[in-house]
Amino acid sequence: MFEKTLLAGRNILITGGGTGLGRSMALRFAELGAKLHLAGRREEPLREACDAIRAAGGAASYSCCDVRDFAAVERMTAEADAATGGIDTLLNNAAGNFIARTERISPNAFNAVVGIVLHGTFHATLALGRKWIAAGRGGNVLNIVTTYASSGAGSGYVLPSACAKAGVLALTRSLAVEWARYHIRLNAIAPGPFPTEGAWSRLLPSGDWEQRWKDHHPMKRFGRHEELANLAAYLLAPQSEYVNGECVVIDGGQWLRGAGEFNNLAELPESVWQQLETARKK
Ligand code: COA
Repeated sequence: MFEKTLLAGRNILITGGGTGLGRSMALRFAELGAKLHLAGRREEPLREACDAIRAAGGAASYSCCDVRDFAAVERMTAEADAATGGIDTLLNNAAGNFIARTERISPNAFNAVVGIVLHGTFHATLALGRKWIAAGRGGNVLNIVTTYASSGAGSGYVLPSACAKAGVLALTRSLAVEWARYHIRLNAIAPGPFPTEGAWSRLLPSGDWEQRWKDHHPMKRFGRHEELANLAAYLLAPQSEYVNGECVVIDGGQWLRGAGEFNNLAELPESVWQQLETARKK
C-alpha cells in the first residue's frame, strides 16, 4: 500500500519518540524514507530508539527535552533543525496520564498532565510554526489525541488528560484554518487501546482488566502499533494534502460500542435471543 519512498526527503520531529507509540511511528517513518529527530525527557530510550532506526538503515538523532518548558523546546527545535537540515513535520506524541479519582488529585498533578499534553503540544507547534512561517516553507503537524477527546465525551478518572486532549483537538482545528494560508497543515489521530508499557502501567488497574477490556471490544483485540503508524504515515504524506483539521479515530469501533444505546446486547446469550424470537412469532 505504501511506496518505500513515501516520506523520502522529509525531516520529522517526534516528541515522546523514544518509547511506546512514538518509537513505533518513528521506526515506520524511517522505513518510508524520512529522517527522524526524537525528543523526550530520558536519554536512554532516545538513544536506543535512534540505534534501532540506524540499525534498520534509517537516519535519526535526538534531544533531551521536557516539552513543558518553552525555552527547552526552542533549544530542542534548533538542535533538530541542525541535525536534520530543517524539520518540516512535527508529531506531537508526548503525553502523560494516570487513573485517579479526581477529588484525590492535587493541582500539581493536573498541571503535570496538562503541561505535557496541552502546553507541550502548543510549545512545539509554536516553536516550529514560527520558523516555518518566517521561512515561507509550509509544514505538517500531527497531534495524538484520544477517543474521549474526539467523541466530545471526556472521561472520568483521567480528568487532566481529558481536559488537555480536548484542548489539543481545539488547537488542531483552530490552527488548521488559521495557518492554512502558510501551507501548514494540522491533523489529529484519536487512538483507542494500543498497548504500550507506559500507558498500560498507568492506566490498567490490574491484570484482569486487560482481558475485561478486550472482551468488551467489538473486535475482541487491541490495536497493533503498525496500524497506527500506517495511518500516521498517510496523514503526513503528500497524498493527503487536502485533509486538514481532521481527527481520525482508530480504535476498532470501541468508542461507538459505548455510544450505541443497545450495543450491550452483544452480551445477550443465544438462549435469550431464541426466547425473544419465539415470542415475536406468537
Ligand atoms: N494519582 C494521583 N496523583 C498523581 C499520580 C497518580 N497516579 N501520579 C502522579 N501524581 C501527582 C504527583 O503526586 C504530583 O503531585 P503533588 O506534587 O501534588 O504530589 C504530580 O502528579 C506530579 O507528579 P510527578 O511524578 O512529580 O511529575 P512528573 O512530571 O515526573 O510526572 C506524570 C508526570 C504524572 C504525568 C507521569 O505519569 C509521567 O511522567 N508520565 C509520562 C508518561 C506517560 O504518562 N505515559 C502514558 C501516556 S498514555
